Amino acid sequence: MADKFLLTGSMGCIGAWVLRNLTDQGIDVVATDVQSDPVRPSLLLNEQELAAIDWQTLDVTDVKAVDKIVADNGVSHIVHLAGLQIPFCRANPSLGAAVNVTGTTNIFEAARHHGVKGVSYASSIGVMGPPENYPNKPVADDVPLIATTLYGVYKAANEKTAGVYWQDWQVASVGLRPYVVYGTGRDQGMSADPAKAVLAAAAGKPFHIRFDGPIALQHANDVAQIFINSARAADGGAPVCNLRGDVIEVDAFVTLLQEIVPAAKITFEKNAPLPYPADLDDAGLRGVLGEVPYTPLRDAIEADLARFSDLLASGKVDLAQLDA
Ligand SMILES: NC(=O)c1ccc[n+]([C@@H]2O[C@H](COP(=O)([O-])OP(=O)(O)OC[C@H]3O[C@@H](n4cnc5c(N)ncnc54)[C@H](O)[C@@H]3O)[C@@H](O)[C@H]2O)c1
Repeated sequence: MADKFLLTGSMGCIGAWVLRNLTDQGIDVVATDVQSDPVRPSLLLNEQELAAIDWQTLDVTDVKAVDKIVADNGVSHIVHLAGLQIPFCRANPSLGAAVNVTGTTNIFEAARHHGVKGVSYASSIGVMGPPENYPNKPVADDVPLIATTLYGVYKAANEKTAGVYWQDWQVASVGLRPYVVYGTGRDQGMSADPAKAVLAAAAGKPFHIRFDGPIALQHANDVAQIFINSARAADGGAPVCNLRGDVIEVDAFVTLLQEIVPAAKITFEKNAPLPYPADLDDAGLRGVLGEVPYTPLRDAIEADLARFSDLLASGKVDLAQLDA
């Protein structure tokens, strides 16, 4: 039988890029989210492509609804992205736990009961603590998890949950730990600032990135392909993998952006590094996938600049996000 993907978090940034790639590959997908307005997917897919997608509203906290959607659609693979980010978990910890912890458990329950072949799900670099705790570089997948935010604690619970679903019921999965995802559609959370800087450069607006120091930058298109390929590659165990991408200082990123767009007015906060290690070892991911999708930084920025210019010309991007 042909593959049938279930995607959660379809209206998010990475979800939109997963839809772009599944559409390109001609793979059937049930695209779900608690929201129903495809604002981000419409940045990447045209009206015909959007109309061809099977959209279904799904709240991942609803265990019966998650079970039904997997059963009714003959789902073979799940890419699970639905989640609330750091500020939302901090503002409403109970809702954060319901979505990020219970929601993920519901996905694994449905996978277990309906013979899903492979699950990939979003963990996060947030499962790690500040960089000084990780003297051995590059930082391996199996270092101690010492999350300092509720979001990170919830994602660490997801990783352990996946491990038990393999141990007890042989649900095969791959957990992925993105760090700073950039690209068209990345518009919320502090780590969206590099993506917003590229948008600002395309729009001729000034922008201030709220951090400096080393980061691991990963383009949303590459990350989406990693999620799709990982769901397919999951066939034994429940590995959890770091993503690497470009490990770069924020000032070097800004310098490169200004080389490409000399008029860009991008600044960054000094002495305000993000509290995670950046020099990440992605050997585990290479072991799972063989080749890890990767677009060189300059190429990815140039493609985003071109896409943003088109979207700005057609009035599809809200520049209010630069002030948020
Ligand atoms: N973007 C990053 O830099 C980054 C880094 C590390 C981890 N992640 C993780 O990757 C995943 C996707 O990231 P993103 O940037 O696309 O996030 P996003 O915030 O853009 O999208 C998340 C989506 O989840 C949906 N959602 C929220 N509650 C839901 C519910 N109860 N049921 C169903 N859907 C619900 C939202 O409507 C939204 O469309 C998230 O789990 C996130 O924590 C992202």
